[in-house]
Amino acid sequence: MVKSKIKELAKGGFSKTLERRRHIHANPELSFKEYNTSAYVRKELELIGIKDITACADTGLIALIKGKDPECGTTALRADLDALPIHEENKVDYRSVNEGVMHACGHDVHTSCLLGAAEILNSIKDDFQGTVKLIFQPGEERLPGGASKMIAEGVLKNPKVRSIIGQHVMPLIDAGKVGFRSGLYMASADEIYITIKGKGGHGAHPHQIIDPIAIAAQVITSLQQVVSRMAKPSVPSVLSIGKIIGNGSTNVIPAEVYMEGTFRTFNEEWRSEAHKRIVKVATEVTEALGGTCDIEVRRGYPYLENDPDLANHARNDAIAYLGEGNVEDLEIWPAGEDFAFYSHEVPACFYRLGIRNEKQGITSMLHTPTFNIDESALEVGTGLMAWLAVCELGRMK
Ligand code: NI
Repeated sequence: MVKSKIKELAKGGFSKTLERRRHIHANPELSFKEYNTSAYVRKELELIGIKDITACADTGLIALIKGKDPECGTTALRADLDALPIHEENKVDYRSVNEGVMHACGHDVHTSCLLGAAEILNSIKDDFQGTVKLIFQPGEERLPGGASKMIAEGVLKNPKVRSIIGQHVMPLIDAGKVGFRSGLYMASADEIYITIKGKGGHGAHPHQIIDPIAIAAQVITSLQQVVSRMAKPSVPSVLSIGKIIGNGSTNVIPAEVYMEGTFRTFNEEWRSEAHKRIVKVATEVTEALGGTCDIEVRRGYPYLENDPDLANHARNDAIAYLGEGNVEDLEIWPAGEDFAFYSHEVPACFYRLGIRNEKQGITSMLHTPTFNIDESALEVGTGLMAWLAVCELGRMK
């Protein structure tokens, strides 16, 4: 049976997957600069025996594995290659050798698992129909997102991709388990930059000045109404101001205040409308109080929607592979993720790989200097990706 074959291969290949994960972890590279990582992935794919490899979006790679009747349909498996500008604090012997750069979002795990899945799929080519397209993409962490570049360069064509699956590590889920969600899952993520200009002066004479601190306070409060009063209750929205600089002192009111924040939601129409409202509220509140407002809302990734059919099938396939008790349902997660770009092009499923192990003290969240994984998750992440592709291709006619 294919399932037990895949399980055996994932188990047998574990030490190789571990070695690959540690190599990539020790040698992280920033977004769109993944030259060595890309060369390493290409070399590993060649060693596995995969010949059909093409470069895309500079450091990205596309590889094809053809099963029986390769024309009957193509499904894609995606991993991301880039790391973050974080100084690693883990004391492990595979710690980052590139100072200030770290795989703190688990992309080393995604890439090594996809290499492992490639090895499995390549060795069971006679057991499945159709074609698997492996996508190793650059720049997930940085706008405009490597996914958008690869799509623009045709990653979803030749052969045409009919569905795409991606996995991402999740520190809230125990190693050995995975999480799925059908429908809306992750948010569009846009950046807000505001400068409020007033007229600075002595804190004792506010009537002679225009106080940008007091104005900024009003703007922050008023912006909350975009979410609490203007958004439809059916469309979750988040607006957070995370940075505010007004550099006066006890008796000095500064001339300007600078703020940064984020706006996240799950509907493109509302997203555009909300951008207009944010600009209008910030500008008009500021002007009413005598100041001027420079505001920019910079568009990030779109929202991510898991195709209900594909996500439900994949969830059932995961249950068949791991057992009911190891497959969880995910809540909406308003972080951004550039896999979203694929989800607006073809049926997509983005699921979570559990990596937490409280007993071993592995609980750090993503994007922190102590993020790490229970490496036993590599076996699940490798075998499940291969299994999901085989099941998905089996449904294509
Ligand atoms: Ni990530």
